[in-house]
Amino acid sequence: MSQPSTSGSTFDVVVIGAGPAGENAADYAVKNGLTAAIVESELVGGECSYWGCMPSKALLRPTEALEAARRVPAAAAAITGEVDVQKVFANRDTFTSNLDDQGQVDWLEGAGVTLVRGHGRIAGDKRVEVTGADGSVTTLNATRGVVIGVGTKASEPPIPGLAETITWGNREAVSIEQVPDRLLVLGGGVIGVEMAQAIARLGASEVTIVEALDGLLGNEDPHVGQELRAALEADGIRIEVGARAEKVRRDGTDGPVTLTLGDGRELVGDELLVAVGRTASTADLGLASVGVEPARGGFVAVDDHLRVPGHDWLYVVGDANGRALLTHQGKYQARLVGDALAGIEVDPAWADERAVPRVVYTDPQVAAVGATEAEAREAGVDVLAVTYNVGHSAGGALLGKGTDGTAKLVIDRERRVIVGASFVGPGVGEMLHAATIAIVGEVTLEVLWHAVPPFPSVSEVWLRLLEEARAVEREDGGDQR
Ligand code: NAI
Repeated sequence: MSQPSTSGSTFDVVVIGAGPAGENAADYAVKNGLTAAIVESELVGGECSYWGCMPSKALLRPTEALEAARRVPAAAAAITGEVDVQKVFANRDTFTSNLDDQGQVDWLEGAGVTLVRGHGRIAGDKRVEVTGADGSVTTLNATRGVVIGVGTKASEPPIPGLAETITWGNREAVSIEQVPDRLLVLGGGVIGVEMAQAIARLGASEVTIVEALDGLLGNEDPHVGQELRAALEADGIRIEVGARAEKVRRDGTDGPVTLTLGDGRELVGDELLVAVGRTASTADLGLASVGVEPARGGFVAVDDHLRVPGHDWLYVVGDANGRALLTHQGKYQARLVGDALAGIEVDPAWADERAVPRVVYTDPQVAAVGATEAEAREAGVDVLAVTYNVGHSAGGALLGKGTDGTAKLVIDRERRVIVGASFVGPGVGEMLHAATIAIVGEVTLEVLWHAVPPFPSVSEVWLRLLEEARAVEREDGGDQR
């Protein structure tokens, strides 16, 4: 791999952080005819590739496939065993390339991006200093701009005893080599619910989620958390909502861990996964050298063109700007930045506000995009909300017994467009893009009547939802057709 031997190399663009967002910013810049260097202190590919999206889904998929077959009576008879847990881990290791980033390094090289290994710090306008593992310092100058794509790490809440206790973050949870017998999960957000189900289904005897809010996935429409809770409880997972963790202790370094709740009850596990949100990895980034102060959680505020206000050469993409902590949104931002750096006029990143697609890869899956009903009402939208059960579509019924889950559209009655959608059910993540396109394209209800869903597919729920919307409007006297 080409490590620059010279100090003071100059590129059009210098990117700090080779996660999906940083890689895409560099790639798009080069595709637009610019030169780009990318600085990485860990593995090229970032959190998503090795400790996030990919391994977590690799752990969830085998038992999801098994359950899908179990729902089909004629196929269920053929299932006489359980998943091979060691093979699940081996499959996970294939997806994470055994934590070897050579494949991604080769990809970067092929894309024409120069990799500089080490810790990058901003050292003045358009200047980045990289400290290598051997302590050597290389200076990279950028003629056009510097892009920060350093991502986030698991937040550590100030719970007495937590800092002194050995616990898991996402990295430890997705890297397991054996299934713990009893797992405590602090936080019923995305990581909490996915890892709780993965580890319960891989054979843990007790999994408990402790969530401070009064439901799981509290940022979504309430039906999502309610339906997911029922599904997780059916997997034997215990769920404590409205619960505050007062203190944590572990007996020795590998003894049981005890979580004391606000009401005095004690929960005991062999491991404790802490998944209560993310903190941006911006603490040691030299931002003060250019007068930039990160906000709470380390997030660096940007404008709708992903630029740090007052620093038109400095961009932040991905989790670190706090706009939408999802790989695909980071890559979206990166594409816009890669174009902007090359002088191509780009739209502001408005999809970060209006149409963020979110999929939670539990079984049933959760898929949502745009506003929740509450968010739309708060924004002053005249809301029409309609629901339909995915299991009542012919396609849903064919998926098997017990296929269940709500599909919901949040409609702006006045503009006659969908502003939000949420789906719960097997495989609904693959249905989401239709909703995203409808929201982004502001497709009116009248036009959507001509988007005919295939029969017998689950996506026929789209037709049922439109029929429901029409029925409600007729009842209200709004639609006379
Ligand atoms: P999160 O923000 O999704 O959930 C954290 C949860 O912890 C919230 O429900 C919050 O109320 C709760 N909480 C906070 N403090 C607490 C306390 N002291 N005691 C009990 N509960 C407490 O954050 P999470 O799960 O750590 O996920 C991190 C990020 O990773 C998310 O932004 C998510 O978008 C991303 N991610 C995305 C995935 C996907 O797209 N499928 C999968 C996994 C993660």
